[in-house]
Amino acid sequence: MTLTKKTIFAIVFTLIVVMGIGSLVMIQRQSNALTEKMQKESNLLSNSMSLTVGKLMSDNFDNRGYLQKMTEKLGALPGINEVIVYDPKGTVIADSDREWIGQSKAQVFEDVKKVLETGKTFQDVETVEGKKLYSNTFPIYMEKGGKNEIVGIGEVNVDLVKIAQTITLKDQANLLASVVALNLEKVLSDDRGGRNYLQRLAEEIGKTEGVSEIIVYDSDGVVIGDTDRKWLGQNKINEFEDLRNVLKTKKPHQEYETVEGKALYSSLVPIFSEDKNLIGVVETGMSLEYIEGQIAQARNRILLLTLLSLGAMSFLMILLLRKSVLAPIQKLTSVTKQIAAGDLSQRVPITSKDEIGELAASFNAMTESIQDKNEELKTFNEELQTTNEELKSTNEELEAANEEIRETQEKLLQQEKLAAVGQLASGVGHELRNPLGVLKNAVYFLKMKLTSSDEKVNKHLKIMEHEIDNSTKIINDLLGFSRTRKPALAPNPINDVIKEALASIEVPKNVVLSQELSSDLPNAMGDRDQLRQVFINVISNAIQAMGETGGMLKIRTHKEGNFVEADFSDTGSGIPKENLNKLFDPFFTTKSRGIGLGLAVSHGIIERHGGKIKVTSQVGKGTTFMIDVPMAQ
Ligand SMILES: Nc1ncnc2c1ncn2[C@@H]1O[C@H](COP(=O)(O)OP(=O)(O)O)[C@@H](O)[C@H]1O
Ligand SMILES: [Mg+2]
Repeated sequence: MTLTKKTIFAIVFTLIVVMGIGSLVMIQRQSNALTEKMQKESNLLSNSMSLTVGKLMSDNFDNRGYLQKMTEKLGALPGINEVIVYDPKGTVIADSDREWIGQSKAQVFEDVKKVLETGKTFQDVETVEGKKLYSNTFPIYMEKGGKNEIVGIGEVNVDLVKIAQTITLKDQANLLASVVALNLEKVLSDDRGGRNYLQRLAEEIGKTEGVSEIIVYDSDGVVIGDTDRKWLGQNKINEFEDLRNVLKTKKPHQEYETVEGKALYSSLVPIFSEDKNLIGVVETGMSLEYIEGQIAQARNRILLLTLLSLGAMSFLMILLLRKSVLAPIQKLTSVTKQIAAGDLSQRVPITSKDEIGELAASFNAMTESIQDKNEELKTFNEELQTTNEELKSTNEELEAANEEIRETQEKLLQQEKLAAVGQLASGVGHELRNPLGVLKNAVYFLKMKLTSSDEKVNKHLKIMEHEIDNSTKIINDLLGFSRTRKPALAPNPINDVIKEALASIEVPKNVVLSQELSSDLPNAMGDRDQLRQVFINVISNAIQAMGETGGMLKIRTHKEGNFVEADFSDTGSGIPKENLNKLFDPFFTTKSRGIGLGLAVSHGIIERHGGKIKVTSQVGKGTTFMIDVPMAQ
């Protein structure tokens, strides 16, 4: 069933149930109310009947013709099925149907038998010829010589269904008026001595619920019977217009009126004698308050019933909707939340074949596919991660390889460069060395020959000699650089090698030389000539760095682990940071007349010895070169 059908079904079902219950309750209530009403009605009729019949019998029991006529008249009233009068032995003496007149029913009718036995009124509900009847059987007493004696039995049968269909409160008032009028016909037409009886009747009936008052007027408008005895004997013809009307038109009259602040529905019925003369009027006042009370009661019942029905309807609707609509939706919502929180294993139970069921099914399918996709993604992700890691390590390897290649390349480049320079240098060097030697000898010869000649000649000779020396030095550097000869290692006292180096250098006067040469120093394992070359280079650089102003050159030797170390500290210009790693490159120089090979050559020598050269420097303060040579064993 679809949700729409479900909802419609729920509503229709609820309506049917509620209407069913409502109708049942209403019918129950209605029939209760009606039964109650009918019983009152019937009692009222019986009371008046017993009075009437009693009076008739006492006055003129032989007047059976009249009795039969009365019975017939009563039986013709709306809702009254049958009126029967029995004599004290149970023989029917009057019957509204004329059916049973003269027949003895004492042994036939249970109720007649009961009344004869007990002397009391007997009421019961019986079904006769398919009609539901309320039967009221009562004894008729008569005063005889100061004693009450049963002179007969009356029976009034009321058709409950008929009365329920026809009788309203108005009818009730009219009916009452008719019964009273019937009574009065006889009483008023007979004699005036029956007025006590009349008053009793008015009072008796006036006690009935809803009846406000019963007033009997004679044909002149004088009150001859009054429930509350107030107006007894008074002539009201001038006072009451309705009374005047009824006396004049001889027709019944009904109206709503207010008497002494009480709202009444009053019914006036004319009373006629046997010879059709108007002999009086009876007025029955029904309390409107009572009527309205009845109406209000009915209204309240209906209201209450409506409210109850509504309540029941809502309850049923909610119950049905809850089970078929709300509960699954709530379940769906809670599962959705769980799934949203990440628990993809949740599923919605499918409990119906309607739209909600469909929704649940497609929701489950969706979740299923999300779960699958999620799983796929997860594996894919894992794969990706592995691949990534692999890539990363490959990358690292590549990078390392790259670095190696780069270093190798650099080295190669350097070596190539050095090799080229070396070739060039050795070629040029060899070519220039001999001519320079010849020049030097020539200058020496001239110096010998021209000793006493003038100063100018001597000065120029000196310049020539100096420049030849410089050139020789450069050529030596070049050759030394290209000649990557393997050092001839031997244990050498390093202090001595330093002294030799110092001896071959002219230290300017403005440079103070300080030497802290360790006395118990082990021999260094090295090539004496090459080491000297290195020290000359470093000392020359230090002196050049201090320039015109001079400064202090401090030389210190000491043992450093497995090395013998010589430190050369100057107070010169210092080396800017960006130049520190270029110092040992061939041809790196900051000097106008330098060629930048000194440190490159020194570095090569020390490396071939298995030693190290370290530098610390501060611009403007000075530089220290530390040269480590392996210790001789
Ligand atoms: N003690 C030092 N103080 C300052 N600078 C120095 C020192 N020693 C070397 N240098 C720097 O290193 C460069 C290279 O020195 P070197 O290889 O001997 O070549 P050159 O002396 O021909 O310039 C020098 O030009 C100079 O700038
Ligand atoms: Mg130099």
